[in-house]
Order: sequence, then structure tokens, then C-alpha cells
Amino acid sequence: MLTLMLAAAIAASSPVLRPDNIPEIVSLLTLEEKAAILVGCGSTAFDGIGRNDVGVKGSAGATHAIPRLGIPSIVLADGPAGLRIDPTRPGTDKTFYCTGFPIGTMLASTWNPGLVREAGQAMGNEVLEYGVDVLLGPGVNIHRNPLCGRNFEYYSEDPVLAGETAAAMVDGIESNGVGACVKHFAVNNQELNRLHNDARVSRRALREIYLKVFEIAVRKSQPWTLMTSYNYINGTHASEAPWLLTDILRGDWGFEGTVMTDWGGGYDTAAQIHAGNELIQSGSDARYNALISAVKEGRLSMADVDRSVTRALELIVKCPAYRGYKHSDAPDLEAHAAVCRKVADEGVVLLKNEGALPFGPSGTTALLGVTSYAFIAGGTGSGDVHRPYVVDLQQGLADEGFTLEGGLDQFYTAYMQDERWRCAMVDGKNSWVIDRERPIEVVPVDLIRAAAESADRAVVTFGRVFGEGKDRDLYHSYLLQDRELQLLRETSQAFRSRGKKVTVILNIGGVVEVDSWKDLADAIIICWQPGEEGGHTVASVLSGEVNPSGRLPMTISRRYEDEPSASNFPLIYADKPFNYSFYRRLEGNKKDYTVKDIDYTDYEEDIWVGYRYFCTKAPRRVAYPFGYGLSYTSFKWKNMKVEEAEGGWKVRVDVTNTGKRAGKDVVELYVSAPGKDMEKPARELKAFAKTPELQPGETCTVEMTLAESDLASWSEASGAWVTEKGRYRLIAARNAADRGLRRKIRI
Ligand code: GLC
Repeated sequence: MLTLMLAAAIAASSPVLRPDNIPEIVSLLTLEEKAAILVGCGSTAFDGIGRNDVGVKGSAGATHAIPRLGIPSIVLADGPAGLRIDPTRPGTDKTFYCTGFPIGTMLASTWNPGLVREAGQAMGNEVLEYGVDVLLGPGVNIHRNPLCGRNFEYYSEDPVLAGETAAAMVDGIESNGVGACVKHFAVNNQELNRLHNDARVSRRALREIYLKVFEIAVRKSQPWTLMTSYNYINGTHASEAPWLLTDILRGDWGFEGTVMTDWGGGYDTAAQIHAGNELIQSGSDARYNALISAVKEGRLSMADVDRSVTRALELIVKCPAYRGYKHSDAPDLEAHAAVCRKVADEGVVLLKNEGALPFGPSGTTALLGVTSYAFIAGGTGSGDVHRPYVVDLQQGLADEGFTLEGGLDQFYTAYMQDERWRCAMVDGKNSWVIDRERPIEVVPVDLIRAAAESADRAVVTFGRVFGEGKDRDLYHSYLLQDRELQLLRETSQAFRSRGKKVTVILNIGGVVEVDSWKDLADAIIICWQPGEEGGHTVASVLSGEVNPSGRLPMTISRRYEDEPSASNFPLIYADKPFNYSFYRRLEGNKKDYTVKDIDYTDYEEDIWVGYRYFCTKAPRRVAYPFGYGLSYTSFKWKNMKVEEAEGGWKVRVDVTNTGKRAGKDVVELYVSAPGKDMEKPARELKAFAKTPELQPGETCTVEMTLAESDLASWSEASGAWVTEKGRYRLIAARNAADRGLRRKIRI
């Protein structure tokens, strides 16, 4: 009784956590309590992706509460395309669906950070209203190679486009008073053996490409959290690297937030805390005990632990859980669906259009390709979302008032019923959430020929879905399959021989090969994975209700072999059973780490990533360049003006809509450096601006800012940023291959 009274007295006398008493709270915590704050609650059901039922069912992770000092548990949940929590819970009929937004690549394809911010704002509202504290997104890693299984979650091959998009996303999410988590820091560009792969990359490529995207995001948006990556970087695990997490992230960039591991990432808990990785997620007893014993055995200083606990508490006091926010569990999903559509509308990229688009909804449209009837809203793995619905193209066209050619519509509707059932059976057996069974493509030749008689045009959709934990198979994912090519050839021959147009829709999470078949189509649209409203977005682009204004956030090369990283990336042959279990990096004896592209990946291409490589060394190996995208109207640019401003320059360009339809245009500002003190790319994107919607005949002036520091390159010799003296060329261009308007400046 006395003990209880004493405990109650102590509890009553203990202060509670406040933003202004964190040092005092830290001094009152026991070592065990400190370890409990830093090491997460663990994953209740490891179905390949982080999940945890502490706090919110189906979230990814949580921290432990310390009630006696008023420290709440905070909840962490994925992902970059929307909040991922379980849509149903036992004991209630209420559902907890979340809006399925367009994938990261599609957000970047809008080249419209203002719009991306709106998507983040809506997404962050669902985080808040469903009782989550930190959203584990955006994912921002560079598209080093088109076969990376997680490229769909990521933005671009270029760090400026990716960084600006990331900063906008973070600002949008955090405007709700919840946290974002920029991930995966850093150099996480392949999925094969992702837990142990050693990315071997030069300092210059690190600074100018792979870290630059994070630097822009940190400097512009100060995200509450960052997530370290699973891989090693030049022999040190990303979560255990003081040079990365303390010297660069905090020392150079001034990051003020909290760093967490990826789920189960890294090995040495003491090294992680020492390096500046505060939260160990998802957490386990082993990690908890390892931390405590490291302190007791003197391998980890209490000062390092207290620094990490301080940063963890600085995060916690910002969270809704600490503020006692009463979440509604009822965000406005209808309003968010409208935002989702608006963003997707601007992310669609029109690659080709020879008299085919826009059309309808008058006349009759022959709709082909199983993906038209089973649209892909997003990618798989932790970046997936439990959406309330997905609008496929068949429904989207019907809602937009299109008339579909009856024979094919009837055939596919019946065929897809069986295929949906078969796919569900196969998916049901998949433990690892990545593999999605896709309907088998068919080529109904007679129906195609009959449709070519009665319909006015044809639309063929091809889809590709992939995700976390697996890279793409060159032959079955990057290349179109024989049946798909056969379907396109049959359709192209049947319709074009009757003077009717063929449009191809690519509903894909990343680049596919297009060069060998693009002449079979009169129009090609990439709608990426547009989220739950996908069918409506594509239908409104086909009808002309939406004038496409997306631009490619990466280069589409003519062949995979032309990719600068092709000889340093793992090739997966689906016909060879590849053991996907992640190699366990043998502790300590890294010398055994000998298998190229699996145990280690040599970033031999250095800074020559994407258009930096193609513009400078292989311009003819490009099918569609970085930044490319057509419109239903035309624009004329003039009066490019450059004037000095403090610490840099202001660049203005007048853009006039010279066509008959309203539309938006994008001005991309590249810089071409003298390149005398070190080899430089022919051009590098330094800024960009999207116009508001311009009516026919209307002119607007876009303005972009260029800082002198933007011109610096990383000198391997001096280990610092160096801005070369001499004459620089500023290029306002439509894409990386466009000559554009040019002006000179001198340093
Ligand atoms: C996963 C992913 C990471 C995700 C986390 C929680 O393995 O790599 O992006 O946020 O675990 O699910």
C-alpha cells in the first residue's frame, strides 16, 4: 500500500512532457524507457510490408508510450500514393478506406509543385483524420534504371524535378499538422537484395545526383522525418553512417528533424544511434536489448542516446497524438477524389498524336486490351493503398458519354469476369504482396476486324504493375509481350487500312520499350498509374475535356541496352526461378561480398544518369527525351530575359497559346556550363515553371530563379562544391533535346 502511494506520489510529482521541458524529461527517463522510445513496437504481422496494429489497425509502426511522463505513442503509416491502413476492422461495419492518389512518378509528371502540394494536403488530411501521426512518404530516390521495382513510388531521373516535387509534397502533408517522411535516404535504386546491397558510388555522383534530391527537399521543406535506406553506401550501412546522417544531413543541410530506419533496416543498433538515426523501426526485443547492452558495455554513450531521445521527443510534441487531437475517422474522401483526379489530369503525358486525339465522345470507340477493363491504379508493396474503388477505362468512357463498339465490349466484359476470378485465386495465394496476377492478353481477331468496320477509332491499353521487393523483368515487364504486339498489329492493320485511327494508352508504373512499335499507333498516351479516378482521367483526355500538360520525368531510351546503367544492374529472367530471399550480408566478412549487381552495385556511370548521359554522349539513342510531352494546342515562347538578382538571376519567358484550345505549358530551364575544370553534362535542369491555363491567344510571363550556388559542381579533388568561372548558357527548352531559347551569363 505504501509503495503504491509512493508511486502515485512520484507520478503526481513527475512533470509531463512539454515542448519546453524536453531536457528535464530526458533527465528523468530510465535507460529502459529511453530504449523503449527509440525502438518501435515491432510488426505484428510481417506480410512482407511493415504493418502494426498498435494505435491504428494496419498502420506500419508505432513508438512506445511512457505514460508516467506524458509521452504518447505515435503512429507511423505508409505511403507515397496515399495512407495505407486496413480498410475494415473487426467489430464494426465502418470502413477506413483511403484515397488512392496517383503514383509518385505521375505527380512528378505534372511538373506542377503547386498541384502536388494540393495532393499532399488532401493525403495529409486523411493521415490526421484516421489518427496517424507520420506518413511514410514521399519516396524520392532517383530513377537510375527503368527496371527498379520501386520507381513508380519515386519521381524522376533528375534531382531538381524530384526535389521540388518532394518539397511540395512534404509541405502539403505537413500543412495538416502531421509529419512526412522523405525516403529512402539514400542511394536506394534497386530492389534485388535491397537489405544488403552495397551501392558503390562516387562522391560527385552522390552529391550532384543521389543526395541532391534530399538536399533540396530538406532545405526547402524541413520534413519532420527522414527514413534511411536498406542498403549500404560505399561499405557503410546508410543507417549507420555518421558522414551521411550527421555531417551532411545535419552539418551541411541543417536538417532539424528525426531520422528513422526502414523496417528492419541495418544491423548495429548502437552504430545507428551513434550515426544519428534516432528511431529503430519497426523495432523488436532484440534491437531493444541490443541498445541497452551497448550502453551498459560502453559501446554506446548515454550522450548519444540522450541526443536521439531529445530528437524523438521533439518529433512527438509536434504530433496529433501529443496534441490530443480527436480524429474523426471520417475524412472527406469525395473531396479528395476530386483532388486525385485533378492531379492525375495534369500528369498524363501525350507522346504522340497524329490526327487521332482528341475524339469523341461522339461516334463509336473500339476498346481493346485487358487493361482497359482492369485498370492499374498504383504499384504494390508498402506503396499500395486500400482504395474505396478504381475507375477503369471502360467505366470512365461510359461515364464520359462514349459509345463503345458492342462486339468487343461484350467479349471483354465476359472474358474479364473469368480472368478477374482467376487472378483473385492466384493473388490469394501470394504471401508477398508484390506479385499481382494480371489478366492474360487475348487477340480476338474476328471481333477486331468486325469492329474496324463499325467503329470510328480504336483504343488499346497496355498495363504494367510491379512493386517493392522485386525489380522488373526485362523480357516480361519492360518489353511488350508477343500477344500485346500481336493485338496492336491486328488492330493497327484492321483500323488503319480503313483510314481509322489507333490510340495506345500505357497504364504503367515505369518506362516500357516503345521504339519498336510506336509507328503502329497514331497516338500514344502515358497515364502512368493514376489512382482511383484513372478511368475518368483518361476518358477526359481522350475527349479533349482535359488538354494533356504532363512532361516525362525521365528519358525513354530506344532500347534497354542503351541505358547508361544497363551493364550495372541485375537482370531478372522470369523463366529462371530466382531466389528472392534476400542474401544475408555475412556480418563482418564483407570480403565474401562478391556477386556483382547483387552483393554490390557499381554506379560506374557516375553522374551520367538519364538525360545527362543521353544529351552529352548518346543523343540518337533516345525515343522520347526527358521533359517531353505534347499538347492539343500550340505555344510560342519569346522575350527570354535574364537579369541579375541578389545571389543569382531571374529568368523570364513570355508564353503565348497560339492554338485553338486552352492549355498549360512548361518551361524547363537548363544550364550548360563551360566544362573546363571538370567534365560537365551538355545541360542540367536547374528550374522550371508551368503556366496557368492559357486561353487561345493569351500570353503569360513565367519567371524562374537561378542561384549562383545552383551552378556549382562537386569537385572530387577538393571535396567541395566549386563554381567554375566562365560563360554559362541558359537554355529555356521544351525538353532535354530541345534547342530552346538561349542567353548567356558570365561568372
Ligand atoms: C518497407 C519500405 C518502406 C516502408 C516501410 C514500412 O519495407 O521499404 O518504404 O515505409 O517498410 O512499411
